[in-house]
Amino acid sequence: MRQNIVAGNWKMNNTLEEGVALAKEVNEILKANKPNCQVVLGAPFIHLTEVVKAVDTSLVGVAAQNCADKVSGAYTGEISAPMVKSTGAQYVILGHSERRAYYGETNAILKEKTDLTLANDLTPIFCIGEVLEEREAEKHFDVVKEQIEEALFHLSAEEFGKVVLAYEPVWAIGTGKTASPEQAQEIHAFIRQTLADKYGAEVADATSILYGGSCKPSNAKELFANPDVDGGLIGGASLKAEDFHGIIAAF
Ligand code: G3H
Repeated sequence: MRQNIVAGNWKMNNTLEEGVALAKEVNEILKANKPNCQVVLGAPFIHLTEVVKAVDTSLVGVAAQNCADKVSGAYTGEISAPMVKSTGAQYVILGHSERRAYYGETNAILKEKTDLTLANDLTPIFCIGEVLEEREAEKHFDVVKEQIEEALFHLSAEEFGKVVLAYEPVWAIGTGKTASPEQAQEIHAFIRQTLADKYGAEVADATSILYGGSCKPSNAKELFANPDVDGGLIGGASLKAEDFHGIIAAF
């Protein structure tokens, strides 16, 4: 059976000291209240080593929020998948809509990043999702299908089995406007069918598909109750341990 996952994405927030304190707080809460899902903290690169040390990795996984599309060399300012791996992190968030919109990440670039992530034995949490105009034009199904096809469908079934997907409607990110449980279930079921058409039902059924976009303690339960929603990728609400735990406790 596929894994339920609640992953925080701290984005560009918290100094090193604050990030470590937040990780310790989440860890303490989870030690006292064993989670019924895999919990992941998506921290800035500079936090990774210390966050890994601050948590019990049997309770909490650690994710980078990006990695380079090259292995090593003269790429000033970039951080490669092997470098992420060397911190002890286990996951890499890839293709977040903010990376696509502000840093020009295309499906072709994300294909390279996915390959390097998998080659370094890291789990990609691969983000897909449409912008508001695409939703209003009812193009959201086509958009997510194209994102998956172009960046991921070169993978073998075995490789794809290591990928976690996160559906994040861009209009719901940081806006307070959440997709309704029905909207989430409809597109998650579509995504799973798209995977089944390519890789077969077994791979599709084993793939965790997370929802992201203004997910909070008050709406997590009804979102996660959907059969094809396997958890969440949490932005704002992952910055406070209590709120983040409120979402984890929805499982
Ligand atoms: O990666 C997380 C998403 O962008 C969701 O962010 O929970 O602040 O809406 P949000």
